[in-house]
Amino acid sequence: MTSQEGHIKSFVKRSGRLTQSQKIFLNNKNNNINFFFPNEIVNLEKLFKNNNNCILDVGFGDGKLLTSLAKKFPELNFIGLEVYESGIGNILKQISSDNLTNIKICCSDAITFLNNYTENNSFYGITLFFPDPWPKKKHYKRRIINKNFVNLISRKISANGFIKVVTDWSNYSDRIEEVFSANDKFERVGDIYIFKNRCLTKFEKKGISLGHRITEFTYKLK
Ligand SMILES: C[S@@+](CC[C@H](N)C(=O)[O-])C[C@H]1O[C@@H](n2cnc3c(N)ncnc32)[C@H](O)[C@@H]1O
Repeated sequence: MTSQEGHIKSFVKRSGRLTQSQKIFLNNKNNNINFFFPNEIVNLEKLFKNNNNCILDVGFGDGKLLTSLAKKFPELNFIGLEVYESGIGNILKQISSDNLTNIKICCSDAITFLNNYTENNSFYGITLFFPDPWPKKKHYKRRIINKNFVNLISRKISANGFIKVVTDWSNYSDRIEEVFSANDKFERVGDIYIFKNRCLTKFEKKGISLGHRITEFTYKLK
């Protein structure tokens, strides 16, 4: 439940069934140029061989939204973080079949990655689509969005950067609003052009089918 660095983990590693092609991509991920495993601060310019703005997506799930954004915006770079193996196998397969060169995947806890392997002021955007809601009160402490996380991302996004969070859990949405309002570095703004007409994610469809209201938050540094 607690990571090596001492923070409470926001996920439980699921070992869902892998398809044959997911297995192939997972087993060969270390030889895949679209996958990286950092052991020092990541140099984004070296990673992408350009200095385009970079968006970090935390918990891309099946990866469909992330690959669709990378396809639509070749002038932006994207890093996808996930700890769910079948999601990683899946997205590596999508990146390769779509020949995308502006998206790199890393299997890491976002908090470990941001704390240890990223420079300050380095991301144009950080996105979290449907972060695990941990709906039971006794599990609220596992929610990724809390005071420490908001402080951490305030150091990692660039001066004109943004953070976007979408959730279908009203109780989590109240908490998200509360922690951002309590942080004097952020102000809430309208949505960013990149997400106009974005596709719905798997968890979004699930939330809608359950009658949940979808709340989107976008904040920029003041
Ligand atoms: C509810 S799912 C949402 C997936 C996808 N964004 C969607 O909307 O369909 C949340 C995802 O975040 C991942 N996740 C949770 N905590 C994480 C963390 N600290 N670092 C990286 N990924 C994380 C989980 O493995 C899971 O796949």
